[in-house]
Amino acid sequence: MRDGFAVSEFPVPALDFTPAVEAETRPLWEKLKSRVTPIEWRTQAPLILAINALKREKNAVILAHNYMTPEIFHGVGDYVGDSLGLAREAARSDAAIIVQAGVHFMAETSKILAPDKTVLIPDLRAGCSLASSITAADVRLIKQRYPGVPVVTYVNTSAEVKAETDICCTSANAVQVVEAAAAEWGVDRVILIPDEYLAKNVARQTEIKIIAWQGRCEVHERFTGADMAELREAYPNAEILAHPECPTDVIEASDFTGSTAAMSDYVMRRKPKQVVLITECSMADNVAVDAPETEFVRPCNLCPHMKRITLENIYQTLLTGQFEVTVDPAIAARARAAVQRMVDLPPPLKPARYDLVKARHHVEVELI
Ligand code: 13P
Ligand code: SF4
Repeated sequence: MRDGFAVSEFPVPALDFTPAVEAETRPLWEKLKSRVTPIEWRTQAPLILAINALKREKNAVILAHNYMTPEIFHGVGDYVGDSLGLAREAARSDAAIIVQAGVHFMAETSKILAPDKTVLIPDLRAGCSLASSITAADVRLIKQRYPGVPVVTYVNTSAEVKAETDICCTSANAVQVVEAAAAEWGVDRVILIPDEYLAKNVARQTEIKIIAWQGRCEVHERFTGADMAELREAYPNAEILAHPECPTDVIEASDFTGSTAAMSDYVMRRKPKQVVLITECSMADNVAVDAPETEFVRPCNLCPHMKRITLENIYQTLLTGQFEVTVDPAIAARARAAVQRMVDLPPPLKPARYDLVKARHHVEVELI
């Protein structure tokens, strides 16, 4: 057990929904009541107050991804956003402890950028199908096969893979990073790993040739062009927003494509009457809380990894210090160079969007 953390046993001791708890959490309840049932709230409200008190006591912050459930996202997240936003926040946070309400690669990225801080993840099993699709040994072989070609790696990868990488990217800046890497290396092709669909979608946005790995996000790969056609027929007036981890025919049929933060920004600024978010389920719940005038159609898929994070295990994490995420310092130093190169690029003035005219033109990518 780490210093400063109490020994505590699972499950979480019952915290009471007293009149005082009810009164203190009423403003949040008013916000969340369209997404949370009264029965759930009686468990969630005392946990939210307990977590927020523990954060103050331990000088901790919670970095919560857009795919967290609404009671986490709106109730205890100090910084919420997409992978790029959370990485930037980890780099500049002055808290002693970062609790990553997200998946393991996000916690590793925080540790890489903030090596002196304690980084905790509430459930070590919160993985990612993209991160597990490729190993550092695979990247070493790829580099042997394509000498002199820069390796751009999606942040959805392990620290070991990042350590073999020239520069990282996220869905919010992948086109910008690919073009920056090609310019810096003075080449016209770039290796973009491990998401095949992101690579294909990026290839349509740039003149740079893309060499891709065949990893997939198990959530976004399930959306199909046929789903899009059905949605168009059933909801002719809905605006359809898709994440760039989706297959190319899904992106071709969308009205907007961007990172999770870009989708949220789109809804908040354009306030469409009816919208469909082609992404993980909690995303729509979280945006809907702040966009009551928009109707959300929800053909979503759940990410089983993101859903491992709960208020209960966040509370446990803060109480016990379990589970600390560490990265071997030698690996971290090499991975940091790749992540830092990305973080040091100028942030886009507004969240990057994919050009949908270009997105409809087929471009070959070389599959490894
Ligand atoms: P964003 O960077 O768009 O938040 O995506 C992260 C992720 O895991 C999407 O599946
Ligand atoms: Fe990984 Fe996909 Fe889950 Fe994101 S949604 S964490 S890419 S499996």
